[in-house]
Amino acid sequence: MKLKNDLILRTLRGEQTERKPVWLMRQAGRILPEYRAVRAKLSGFIELAKTPERAAEVTIQPVDILGVDAAIIFSDILVIPEAMGLPYEMVEKRGPFFPNTVRKASDLDKLHIAQADELDYVLEAIQITKKNLDGRVPLIGFAGAPWTIMAYMVEGSGSKTFSVAKRMLYQNPALAHELLDKITQSTIHYLKAQVKAGADMLQLFDSWAGILSPEVYRKFSLPYIQKIAEAITEVPLIVFAKGAFFVREDLGKLPCAGIGLDWTMDIQESRKLVGSDKVLQGNLDPCMLYAPDKVLQEATLNMMKAFGDKHIVNLGHGVYPDIDPEKVKIFIETVKSAGSE
Ligand code: CP3
Repeated sequence: MKLKNDLILRTLRGEQTERKPVWLMRQAGRILPEYRAVRAKLSGFIELAKTPERAAEVTIQPVDILGVDAAIIFSDILVIPEAMGLPYEMVEKRGPFFPNTVRKASDLDKLHIAQADELDYVLEAIQITKKNLDGRVPLIGFAGAPWTIMAYMVEGSGSKTFSVAKRMLYQNPALAHELLDKITQSTIHYLKAQVKAGADMLQLFDSWAGILSPEVYRKFSLPYIQKIAEAITEVPLIVFAKGAFFVREDLGKLPCAGIGLDWTMDIQESRKLVGSDKVLQGNLDPCMLYAPDKVLQEATLNMMKAFGDKHIVNLGHGVYPDIDPEKVKIFIETVKSAGSE
């Protein structure tokens, strides 16, 4: 089907566009009362993610309500561990929790490389979303980067330091590599299936990149992202490694179309380090959406100017749950009107 708005795909192909595309990480859910209304009818996040009709509905909400230039499928990065045999729970107000974890070889032996059909509920949600979007905007598929997924599987929950997960990198690097390899293979199956189901582009979230040293990141994260980027040849891929300021040059060499920046990364310096061929995405501080309208508008325009072309407008991380959707609309409207001047 021909897309009515393909700004983001044209930008990722390096084409000049009439204005910059804009979407927000974590736009599906959380901030919208319309999302909370759908979620309240089900037992919780996981049931919603596993009910394809409803997942498709909340995926499209930000397109209708906020006017973003892309939809991102409503799911979570933690569906991969579950498909590999390590189920998770989502504890209200606290986040993910894994009743079982991977701490030793026998834990890993119990897990398998996930096949696409083990995530058929996500694939079905993608198919329904594509049908209901009716070509209005592209659909983004996603997965977690292997290091970030491993961090949750070993730690068993969120953490400030992920010191249990990092301990494995130093105490038992061979086991860590085996785990990372299993995750990588599962992720490639999953992302390829998302494309087959209709995803127009993909993003890889390395949310916990920033807690590793450059040397350790180059050993335990980058090679696995590289493998995924090499395997994904069908659609453009954006790699967002939060906090990975120290490997921007390395990220620039990945075989992918785009690199996401967080708000701590200087824009011009990042362009120099990443090089000229990649599209950059980001990077307004999510907290700027708390600022008065004028401050927010000015900061958005300044950011856009600093990036220049080859830029997808986004925040530097996911939108926070208590942000007023009206502020998000101002952010998006600022981007849209800047482009048509
Ligand atoms: O971007 C989107 O809107 C699509 C949906 C999406 C979710 N999670 C839905 C979700 C995406 C892309 C994610 C990615 C994700 N999940 C990441 C990477 C991005 C990032 O923020 O760094 C990570 C680290 C997770 C793991 C996760 N899932 C955590 C830590 C939590 C709890 C805290 C939180 O952010 O709410 C979740 C839960 C989650 N994932 C919710 C949603 C809408 C909230 C659950 C609810 O509705 O109760």
